[in-house]
Amino acid sequence: MASLEDLIPTVNKLQDVMYDAGIDTFDLPILAVVGSQSSGKSSILETLVGKDFLPRGTGIVTRRPLVLQLNNIAPDSPLIKEDPSLSASVNGKDGQSEAGENGGHELTLEDHLRKNTNSYQAPTADEWGEFLHLPGRRFYDFREIRKEIENETARIAGKNKGISKVPINLKVYSPRVLNLTLVDLPGITKVPIGEQPPDIEKQIKNLILEYVATPSCIILAVSPANVDLVNSESLKLAREVDPLGKRTIGVITKLDLMDSGTNALDILSGKLYPLKLGFVGVVNRSQQDIQLNKSVEEALDNEEEYFNRHPVYRTISNRCGTRYLAKLLNRTLMTHIRDKLPDIKARLNTLIGQTEQELASFGDTGLITNENRAGLVLQLMNKYATNFISSIDGTSSDIST
Ligand code: GDP
Ligand code: NA
Ligand code: MG
Repeated sequence: MASLEDLIPTVNKLQDVMYDAGIDTFDLPILAVVGSQSSGKSSILETLVGKDFLPRGTGIVTRRPLVLQLNNIAPDSPLIKEDPSLSASVNGKDGQSEAGENGGHELTLEDHLRKNTNSYQAPTADEWGEFLHLPGRRFYDFREIRKEIENETARIAGKNKGISKVPINLKVYSPRVLNLTLVDLPGITKVPIGEQPPDIEKQIKNLILEYVATPSCIILAVSPANVDLVNSESLKLAREVDPLGKRTIGVITKLDLMDSGTNALDILSGKLYPLKLGFVGVVNRSQQDIQLNKSVEEALDNEEEYFNRHPVYRTISNRCGTRYLAKLLNRTLMTHIRDKLPDIKARLNTLIGQTEQELASFGDTGLITNENRAGLVLQLMNKYATNFISSIDGTSSDIST
């Protein structure tokens, strides 16, 4: 997932160290997207994860919270197994075979996917999704994940625009994701439609608050650029739970849809609204791009080009776009990790102290019993852990732009 992958080794090692030392496992903060309906929340999450798997579109599409837990697995994890259904879909069940090009050689499906701009990503054996409501079933094809989210949304929230606070829980396993939980939420609406109750606005706000009120939640407060910022529902809601703007990142979407002659430079440079982590402008895939199946990679490249070429934004293009948003999140998560280090160190020190006392109590017999061998191992492990923690503590938090 873009540059969030950079954090994988650090977080994995820290989690291992803490697990070995018997300290509570260490969790990164949850990341939740908040904003009005169709402001581009699902689009942002999808691009950050780098996979096409979320229902998106005009109108109310996200109607239940989606709690997406990304799980990093080792490339040689025993969890990975060749799946017969996977090889079916890799070997052309869904493949549109393409002959003729490439000097008469038949293109493999892989060639085809590499070449074209279609958003279809070939399944791989080391990357899959699993839903809590369908235990044991692995989804290797991410388009199937999107279908299942749609079905499961309709199953609980009905087919007529109703919403439900019952979350859909999806776990994604891959060597290329950071251990992180992302939450996609229904958008804030004011006027009830379809099966929505009269107090729909209040219900959706309460639902969102359940996630973002947690002090460790990072809020991506999404506002579309074609609506006045003073009317931003996401910033109003974020302010309720984060009044000092410490854990809110402002995301301005749809910059491409602003009236010509206007721009969002003032907002993006933080002159209009105070947020410590600042604002990032993005251009997501449009409805037409969705219909044309534009891939995540192509969308990211087009977005970068948009900012580089824009007469106004090109001066700040190194602080714009979804790739920059990923870097900012990376830095924010690293800061969070560093904030936790003093506590982790203190607990390791206590453990080391206890172990030393235990070792001393064995006396000077020179006997290495199994019991004190365990103690020695623990002591060595803690030394190693402390060194490792000092090493990340000293790491610069600067991000290259
Ligand atoms: P959500 O309801 O907030 O989750 O929004 P979605 O991600 O489902 O997007 C709603 C609609 O807005 C879709 O048709 C998207 O293609 C479109 N959209 C989102 N962001 C942008 C953007 O930056 N530019 C353009 N042109 N369209 C966007
Ligand atoms: Na929408
Ligand atoms: Mg959505």
